[in-house]
Amino acid sequence: MSQYPVVDQLQRPVKDLRISLTDRCQFRCHYCLPAEHVAVMRQQSQPEKHLNDEQITAVVAAFAQLGVSKIRLTGGEPLLRKNVPALVHRIKQVKGIEEVALTTNAGLLDPVLDDLVTAGLDRITVSLDALDPELFAAITGTQYPVTQVLNAIQRCVDSGLKQVKVNCVIQKNTNEHQIVPMLAHFRDTGVVVRFIEYMDVGTINQWQPDQVLSSQHMQQMVAAHWPFESLPPQVKGEVANRFRFNDGGGEFGLISSISQPFCHDCNRARLSTQGEIYTCLFAHQGHDIKAVIEQPDLLLQRLTEIWQQRQDQYSAQRSQQRPSNKGKIEMFMIGG
Ligand code: GTP
Ligand code: 5AD
Ligand code: SF4
Ligand code: SF4
Repeated sequence: MSQYPVVDQLQRPVKDLRISLTDRCQFRCHYCLPAEHVAVMRQQSQPEKHLNDEQITAVVAAFAQLGVSKIRLTGGEPLLRKNVPALVHRIKQVKGIEEVALTTNAGLLDPVLDDLVTAGLDRITVSLDALDPELFAAITGTQYPVTQVLNAIQRCVDSGLKQVKVNCVIQKNTNEHQIVPMLAHFRDTGVVVRFIEYMDVGTINQWQPDQVLSSQHMQQMVAAHWPFESLPPQVKGEVANRFRFNDGGGEFGLISSISQPFCHDCNRARLSTQGEIYTCLFAHQGHDIKAVIEQPDLLLQRLTEIWQQRQDQYSAQRSQQRPSNKGKIEMFMIGG
């Protein structure tokens, strides 16, 4: 099949498929799924239409033929779905898939961690925006103790996973004072913390530019405590800029979608729970592929067309797009 691997209108291949396993979450982070919007979530969620494991695996297999080698399972909170280890096992059998990773808030991780590792999960990223218990509770809108999240992260480190990361979304005047304590906590543990500029995903968070702390500013805050140096990207299209502490304390990352957009190398496709392909995190609409999911040739053809037509570069064009910002998919539906 000589037309593969495919590239989009900007010559970008597809390498990474991010799969939303559910649009539900047990946390209520104010920037993603604030409590007052749960009714909207329930209204929009149509569990009877959610893809089953077989259908998800079929999409993975088709994307693998187009060049995808990396799968990330996300949500909402992906572990609200039943039997994720069985799905990981299935996906790992697909020819061409080299790596399966999971992004989770870790609230439901402990009981399934061993099964996930046995099933072949390669890497885990835990979302954690604060170490301070009160701030953690305020940001996540739950009573779930931050100590339990920290225990789960430690269990991940001990479990034999290839890599454990922490995602920390920084909002100006909210949690930037957690940057240094977070690094102090995870230095020398092997856990890579990535600080993320707060992004204008979806619409319910009513994002404003003045809520963003630039990664340059974050870098200065870290430099005041520990000297570090830049690391080169491990793969093309990596979202984080990587840094290494000079004293051997490990690595951290900065994800600068606002101040330094990385659309030019974006090789990520996203699959929603209801069987739609989103070609950008900030897309207004997905491409419904459910009708062809059980027909491998048609599925491959449809995905090829979708990718070849792709022109997205939302972050790079953000300043021009701000006025027509309405109707974007919400984070809890597409998982980052
Ligand atoms: P690695 O494989 O470990 O590099 O994972 P990742 O960085 O692709 O995934 P993760 O889920 O940890 O994402 C980290 C942060 O980057 C999240 O806040 C995502 O929403 C954001 N992010 C990931 N992909 C994109 C993207 O294509 N565009 C933008 N703007 N942000 C993204
Ligand atoms: N900006 C940046 N990152 C976000 N995440 C969720 N919402 C936003 C936002 N508005 C992060 C989550 C999770 C990852 C997939 O995306 O914290 O770690
Ligand atoms: Fe928070 Fe992630 Fe749940 Fe959204 S999906 S409410 S960011 S834990
Ligand atoms: Fe990719 Fe869209 Fe993010 Fe740009 S804004 S990096 S095109 S997902």
